[in-house]
Amino acid sequence: MTQQIPRRAAVGLVAVGAACAACARYGGPQSPDEANQAGATQQQTGEVLGKAADIPVGGGKVFANQKMVVTQPTAGQFKGFSAVCTHQGCLVDAVTDGTINCPCHASKFKVADGAVSAGPATTPLPAMTVSVNEYGELVTGGSAPPGTADPGTTAPTTEETTAPGGTTEPQGGGGDVLATTDAIPVGGGMILQDQEIVLTQPTAGEFMAFSAVCTHQGCIVDAISGGTINCPCHGSKFKLDGSVSQGPATAPLSARTVKVSGDQISLA
Ligand code: FES
Ligand code: FES
Repeated sequence: MTQQIPRRAAVGLVAVGAACAACARYGGPQSPDEANQAGATQQQTGEVLGKAADIPVGGGKVFANQKMVVTQPTAGQFKGFSAVCTHQGCLVDAVTDGTINCPCHASKFKVADGAVSAGPATTPLPAMTVSVNEYGELVTGGSAPPGTADPGTTAPTTEETTAPGGTTEPQGGGGDVLATTDAIPVGGGMILQDQEIVLTQPTAGEFMAFSAVCTHQGCIVDAISGGTINCPCHGSKFKLDGSVSQGPATAPLSARTVKVSGDQISLA
């Protein structure tokens, strides 16, 4: 049997994903999330973020769609970080007074290197690679061509950093076997932390898959109980079809495309 489940919004999903794996792994709202490299691990390359000139020296800018923060600690020196807070996976939302700030529990990270400036986070924001192209645009990944740096500074415009986290599983991961059908309870589901995917079986033989990234503020859902998929951060619950059962989330979990072949469920 092969069952195709349409993907509604997978873009950017992977980036956040790994980042929050720790949320689920540690299982609770108070647990640290040092795996936040999601963005870093699955960083897309070659995407234009905006003008380098829009990044204030000594400050930075949050690119929410890409779940990335770009800072300019000193003139011409651009650095990229995952925007997924290492505390519990919320997205940082502001850069002020030299720090990158998380709205959930007030963690702050230094624009210079992503290090923790104020808790409760205890681990730095994972680095992400950003470069400046010949048009003065910030581009995810890659290297800036030589000579594109601000001539007024010796600092490179390219910050090459190695994304922590290791694996570079392709988005969509076509063909990866996620689970066997008998591992997914009818009326329940399974959370695959590493892949940041939720598999459910609302009714016998009906398999669905979703991003495990909560649509509220990006934490990773960590439990399926009572017929809902539950987020540990602020109590959002999602039905087994991904729709919101309880806020504060207002948008359904993003669907992922999987296929069922025999007893194996894999990414399409
Ligand atoms: S998620 Fe708690 S401070 Fe960011
Ligand atoms: S991130 Fe707030 S409820 Fe999930």
